[in-house]
Amino acid sequence: MGAGVNFFDTAEIYTFGRSERLLGACLQRYHKPVVIASKFAPLPTRLTRRQFMHALDGSLSRLGVQTIDLYYIHFPYALLSVEKLMDLMAQAVEAGKVRAVGVSNFNAKQMHRAATRLERYHIPLAANQVRYNLIHRQPEENGVLEACRELKVTLVAYRPLERRRLVPRTSPSSSPSSTGWKGQALSKEEALQETLQAIAQQQGKSVSQIALNWLLRRDEHVIPIPGTTSARHALEIADTLSWELSDDEYDAIDKASSPWKH
Ligand SMILES: NC(=O)c1ccc[n+]([C@@H]2O[C@H](COP(=O)([O-])OP(=O)(O)OC[C@H]3O[C@@H](n4cnc5c(N)ncnc54)[C@H](OP(=O)(O)O)[C@@H]3O)[C@@H](O)[C@H]2O)c1
Repeated sequence: MGAGVNFFDTAEIYTFGRSERLLGACLQRYHKPVVIASKFAPLPTRLTRRQFMHALDGSLSRLGVQTIDLYYIHFPYALLSVEKLMDLMAQAVEAGKVRAVGVSNFNAKQMHRAATRLERYHIPLAANQVRYNLIHRQPEENGVLEACRELKVTLVAYRPLERRRLVPRTSPSSSPSSTGWKGQALSKEEALQETLQAIAQQQGKSVSQIALNWLLRRDEHVIPIPGTTSARHALEIADTLSWELSDDEYDAIDKASSPWKH
């Protein structure tokens, strides 16, 4: 918060509510204006309006707020239609408990269904949170990025550092991918790492900053949400917003990451 970070993503299922509680405690302590996102997990025991509201009330209480700025459906669920889920979200907005409605891990078709249902209530679909990074470019291919552009929905990119796989490795043997991956995949990743490291050196930035900056430059609809447990990394992440890759740098990274386009 001290570095100006004001958007925090959590979910009721992260560490069984502890993540929301910790964030709530920070909010109490720092009194900074922030935007909080949390998520409802549709599960077999969460099928009714009452159960949904109970879960939402639990999140509000753990976070210590009256309204959640952005509330997502964490993932689509076969036992609850997209329409029913959006009806529940609209009721939460109407009750003043949620400001903006998001979905997560929804495909393009599910996004369109969600946006269409919300139109009934004059509520826009604000965001779809999906996994997206330099070595996981499916949203470009599966229609999700396109749907975000069409529907004016923000693509919130989770795992933007692919859980450290886009962070420099100290030695090849420390790479999680070097044990189980085929040689070809590893060499593609090494080539990408080389490009990222060369640009990082030129810019005087870290590889993770380069990977995040690439996502920010990728499309105006994309917002990456990196996770960290380290204050130093949090400061580094915050600094990613203060500069931009050049067109040539962006293109070089795009090319090195092109094997993951298909
Ligand atoms: N909607 C969903 O289904 C879903 C699924 C997964 C995640 N998410 C959300 O997305 C967020 C991010 O995803 P994620 O945490 O799984 O993956 P991530 O952001 O790709 O990677 C996090 C890892 O990167 C490291 N890291 C962060 N900044 C770094 C830096 N500057 N230098 C070096 N290492 C750095 C962190 O280590 P340190 O802790 O040591 O910094 C951590 O191990 C989560 O916190 C969660 O809110 C949503």
